[in-house]
Amino acid sequence: MGKFLINGQTPLHGKVKVSGAKNAALPILAASLLADTPSRLLDIPQLRDVTNLCTIMRKMGATVQREGKEIFIDPGSLNIQEADHDLARKLRASYYILGVLLSKNHRARTSLPGGCNIGNRPIDLHLKGFKALGAEVSLDHGVVDVKADKLAGNRIYLDYPSVGATINIMLAATLAEGRTIIENAAREPEIVDLANYLTVMGADIKGVGTDIIKINGIERLEGAEHRIIPDRIEAGTFMIASALTGGDVYVKNVLSEHIKPLIAKLKEMEVILEEDISGVRVKGVDKLKTVDIKTLPYPGFPTDLQSQMMVLLTQADGTSLVNETVWENRFMHVDELKRMGADIKIDGHSALIKPSRLTGAEVTATDLRAGAALILAGLAAEGQTEITDIYHIERGYENISGKLASLGAKIKKID
Ligand code: EPZ
Repeated sequence: MGKFLINGQTPLHGKVKVSGAKNAALPILAASLLADTPSRLLDIPQLRDVTNLCTIMRKMGATVQREGKEIFIDPGSLNIQEADHDLARKLRASYYILGVLLSKNHRARTSLPGGCNIGNRPIDLHLKGFKALGAEVSLDHGVVDVKADKLAGNRIYLDYPSVGATINIMLAATLAEGRTIIENAAREPEIVDLANYLTVMGADIKGVGTDIIKINGIERLEGAEHRIIPDRIEAGTFMIASALTGGDVYVKNVLSEHIKPLIAKLKEMEVILEEDISGVRVKGVDKLKTVDIKTLPYPGFPTDLQSQMMVLLTQADGTSLVNETVWENRFMHVDELKRMGADIKIDGHSALIKPSRLTGAEVTATDLRAGAALILAGLAAEGQTEITDIYHIERGYENISGKLASLGAKIKKID
């Protein structure tokens, strides 16, 4: 149970390189099991969620070898139709094993997935999709069992453009017979990255990045080499850190088209931004203008940057409103920020943020992005901030303390 100690109010300066995207790496790792031959995946971030998923895959019989940011997966020896229940409960993305095994072997079992405690997190849309493809689904004491004699393509309308459901249905439909059409599909860049990998493997998928995805099932897939896209949420977190500390940071390995809503909001706040082909330079200013934020599915403002943005808004020149529409329980950082002096009032799904002076305090990371927000608050605060339960943060940020320290932040990890 490590903690971070941060002494704030040092402007960040220099260059920082963004790692591969966690939320693309996880489904892509799982998808490698769909093939009959090995895959090599590049730019896989070194994160606890990735380590746990690799262990789940090894326990299912696959060969998974890791060297730094490269992972070699040989699914040839896959012989178990079940994801380790204890490990599956540790990460949300373990449910992608269901779509993969259902597609490949028509049978899969796992525990209901874990992940951040940011809302109800049902998987009804995933299961509805599996059923539409012909699977029988049972849920007993937290264990999901899906099986099918044969999987056949179908038209599936998602009541909500769920990222996980879109991915799981795509995975299941890839080796199904016939055509599957997902309507009201999610459009996140991580889904496009997965589809690009599946396409190089031989899958026939059209329309990713729009709300209608068409998948023509095929008989087999070959392994492939694929480089994971940069993590847009990590990029956004560093960009906000630079703006917040009045710094000057070049954030490298950023696809700026993936973070348009953040760029737009930072520009509205009068932060100075310079974009080029491989990154974004962010310079802080003396006075930040206030803005309102509403989180939405992509291409709207990402919920995964809401808490970090809220910290920046505590330093703006007036009152701002943040409306969280994706998750019902994603204001857990607010109580912790209040301990640091933030003036935030919550009313249902909205938070009203008034300008405040942040001061160091002992706070707890309650989930991944809430933890990231506390790091940012610590960087802006006067005095020392101590953050406990940092394992949440390490599930999703590769070496965050090392990267921030390289920019001049006074941050120390205590194991
Ligand atoms: C993914 O979660 C990300 N996780 C989340 O990242 C991210 O916050 C979220 O997408 C939204 O962008 C991974 O990719 C591993 P959803 P996911 O299914 O797929 C409701 C982070 O910090 N819903 O799009 O679980 C659900 O309750 C995180 O990295 C149903 O009702 O998100 C929520 O309100 C945490 N039924 C909304 O949809 C379902 O069957 C969005 O969920 C599925 C979802």
